[in-house]
Amino acid sequence: MMNIQTIGFVACFVGAMVPAVVISLFGVSSQDAMSIGERFHAQTSHSRRGSPAEESRRQIVRPPTFKEYPGVRLIELAPPAHRGVRVEEAIARRRSVRSYSTKSMTRAELSQLLYAAQGVTSERSGIQLRTAPSAGALYPLEIYAVVNHVEGIPKGLYHYNVRRHGLETIREGDLSRQIRAAGLDQQSLGEADVVFVLTAIVDRARIKYRERAYRYVYMEAGHISQNIALQAVSLGLGSVCAGAFYDDEVNTLIGIDGFSEFSVYLHPVGTLE
Ligand SMILES: Cc1cc2nc3c(=O)[nH]c(=O)nc-3n(C[C@H](O)[C@H](O)[C@H](O)COP(=O)(O)O)c2cc1C
Repeated sequence: MMNIQTIGFVACFVGAMVPAVVISLFGVSSQDAMSIGERFHAQTSHSRRGSPAEESRRQIVRPPTFKEYPGVRLIELAPPAHRGVRVEEAIARRRSVRSYSTKSMTRAELSQLLYAAQGVTSERSGIQLRTAPSAGALYPLEIYAVVNHVEGIPKGLYHYNVRRHGLETIREGDLSRQIRAAGLDQQSLGEADVVFVLTAIVDRARIKYRERAYRYVYMEAGHISQNIALQAVSLGLGSVCAGAFYDDEVNTLIGIDGFSEFSVYLHPVGTLE
């Protein structure tokens, strides 16, 4: 006599096997039958039969490790000084917060958040290591900040200069409506004091990891975003990570081409009542 769990397991197993049997019986190649996501996963897998596909038809040229905007105004940020709650407490208290108060974030808080995200913590063999891990220490991610309400920093779009721990001014102006619209009209993006936009310069990682690098940039964005989330808790701020956005609209807003550098994740942060 089979119990309900066993019946469920058998049904799932048969369900999973039928397409594979049909494919092999009728000679349909498994590649043809795969969805784009399944193909991506299969072709970027390591296995004992081989390494991820070398898809790129062009020669990959190593991009510089640090993206910098020469000649623009750099807003220097104070070194991180905050001593907050224990990490266990921050982990336990973290919750997605999508609505914020009208108070402004301080410049020190913004500095602390950026440092938690991508600050340089030590140097080894000439490589500046950062707060979040990165495959091969290649650091393919960049951070932009859409500033809406931060004391002493005009509203606008900024790029985080990792080496100098400062904000490079890309353009000033109120971009809250634009970032909200590009983010599927999510209220959190329009209300936040700052919206971090994480982008990937994928060739920094691709030069070593080939097409598997596309997996790594998403993993790394998760690490950075979690640092932001926990730092926000420790500062008494609210935040949420957001993967839902119109890619082309966010890319255009930031001023990147969407191929050599593309948006990966948004992370609004704001003050609480
Ligand atoms: C990859 C990813 C994408 C997400 N995208 C969004 C989003 O676009 N908008 C949003 O409000 N929350 C987004 N979230 C937050 C989840 O909704 C949230 O983490 C989940 O409801 C669990 O709640 P908690 O974060 O409070 O634990 C996302 C979370 C992850 C991990």
